Amino acid sequence: MKILISALFLMLLLPVLSIAQEANYDETKVPEFKLPDPLTTFNGKKVKSVKQWEKKRRPELLQFFTENVYGAVPGELKIHDINVVEESANALNGKAKRKQVTLTFKKDAKELDFTILMYTPKTEEKVPLFLGYNFYGNHTITEDVNVQISSAWVRDNPSFGIVNNQLTEQSRGVRTNRWALEKIIDAGYGLAVIFYCEVDPDKDDMTDGVHPFFYVDDQQQPANNEWGAISTWAWGLSRALDYFEQDADVDASKVIVFGHSRLGKTSLWAGATDQRFAGAISNDSGCGGAALSKRCFGETVARINRSFPHWFCGNFKNYSNNEQALLVDQHELIALLAPRPVYVASAEEDRWADPKGEFLSALYASPVFELYGKTGITQQEMPEVNHPIQSTVSYHIRTGVHDVTDYDWEQYIRWADNFIK
Ligand code: GCU
Repeated sequence: MKILISALFLMLLLPVLSIAQEANYDETKVPEFKLPDPLTTFNGKKVKSVKQWEKKRRPELLQFFTENVYGAVPGELKIHDINVVEESANALNGKAKRKQVTLTFKKDAKELDFTILMYTPKTEEKVPLFLGYNFYGNHTITEDVNVQISSAWVRDNPSFGIVNNQLTEQSRGVRTNRWALEKIIDAGYGLAVIFYCEVDPDKDDMTDGVHPFFYVDDQQQPANNEWGAISTWAWGLSRALDYFEQDADVDASKVIVFGHSRLGKTSLWAGATDQRFAGAISNDSGCGGAALSKRCFGETVARINRSFPHWFCGNFKNYSNNEQALLVDQHELIALLAPRPVYVASAEEDRWADPKGEFLSALYASPVFELYGKTGITQQEMPEVNHPIQSTVSYHIRTGVHDVTDYDWEQYIRWADNFIK
């Protein structure tokens, strides 16, 4: 009887134990792992020139990430209509121009639109621009009452006044702290933001957002190698860039894609898949973003696939508790940005995102940038907290928690001044 009870107890406990194993905070429990060399092809050939990288290695890495991590975009969908819904030459107390532009997409009876909110400095010249998604609607990044409130689905957050999955006036300006808008404008850059749930709601439901535009017959779900939500969000960023190519205020050759957390995973994937982006910033992107998967520190592949099954493609589930079988790791995602500037940032208390794994990714991606004659990360050790390393590949770890702060933006602006502007 005793044995039976213990066995039953163990059975009940097992799932809890395995969940616990999915998040490791102990450096001594990091498994021994061998990272793939970004400059050796899958069949063992050394890559010695930019030409070999661009002709052979880059395409095979991109294909692996596409088919096995983020999922392929299953077709093409171009902007159907561009509608400037509101604009002002005198926004932010006369400091900037504001524009709200809705892009509409159509296919058969389906229609989707999302709105870009842009602030640009008051100048006749085309400006470089930071482009990024926000988590709770465009109106949350500023107190500006002229910014329209989106009607897209959003996860409830009663403290922001988001109830029944709808945004309300109460949420206006609740995320101003994450967007150093005035600093960005003062430095001569534009800022453009989009509410990510307008492109694809962040829930495990593949029948909404842009997914169904590509379904064949009664398909309800992307194929195992087709896009998860991160890929759809990256797709949306590329469509925004299509628009900037015809906007009079923006220098489309200098658009830097920025993202925090899940949206930092997205900015890296957008920069990898769309080489028109001039550079990419990953702010605390963690697992499936800048952090190495094979270190299994903080959030792991198994954990992210279980909590957020819709973010990656079906094939990525093959690597849950099986990271060592991956033919790539996230340093090679960063390498796909080369030779364009890329910035990886961590926060000291954000152990869930594995700051060390984020640093090592930037470090191990660097040889690919060096192949182009650019400077990557040249030191093997993590820099001290609040001591950024800035070169074509940049990295900092700041004090504090998982967030975007003015400190982060000050570093991004300085880096952009030197490597993009
Ligand atoms: C969760 C998730 C992370 C993600 C983060 C976010 O913490 O586990 O992978 O980066 O949400 O996007 O806020």
